[in-house]
Amino acid sequence: MTSRWCVLLFSAWMLCPSTASAAERPAVTQHDIVPLMMLRCTACHGPRKQESKLDLRTCGSMLRGGKSGPAIVPGKPAESLVLKKIHAGKIPLRLKVVTASVKPMEPREIALLTKWIELGAPKNNSPSPVNRIEWNVFKIFLSH
Ligand code: HEC
Repeated sequence: MTSRWCVLLFSAWMLCPSTASAAERPAVTQHDIVPLMMLRCTACHGPRKQESKLDLRTCGSMLRGGKSGPAIVPGKPAESLVLKKIHAGKIPLRLKVVTASVKPMEPREIALLTKWIELGAPKNNSPSPVNRIEWNVFKIFLSH
């Protein structure tokens, strides 16, 4: 059993099409951004709480925005509320961060978010490479 799992994990790693798929899709898509939001923001702008009526879980909900209007303006990072807030150093609020145990975005993550908005917030509707790998692994698993 253990060796089967090793083979499985190894094949998942081998299947990883990170370089092959780079040419087919924009450099940054919502597949890169949504997980970031999940990590840094959705504790307060997600399923349980939506501070300022803002939900940051999907492209659609970011475009819809919250109390102050759209959270992102595709193609215009400087006008995008998420970046304005992040650069103002007000996100997340210091005291609340401790209770929600979320860390602020790192510069690398902010750069990625800025790039995504600059590119016009592209969506990649084809299944993400990760989903494809999971599906392949699942099929291998079923066949045993
Ligand atoms: C610990 C809780 C918390 C986390 C985590 C958090 N926020 Fe917020 N956010 C708030 C609260 C509270 C408000 C309302 C008060 C304010 O506007 O400062 C708010 C408001 C906002 C607004 C203004 C919405 C509007 O329409 O007025 C934006 C944009 C925003 N947050 C973006 C983000 C982003 C992007 C992240 C992740 C990097 C994030 N927030 C993480 C608590 C949080």
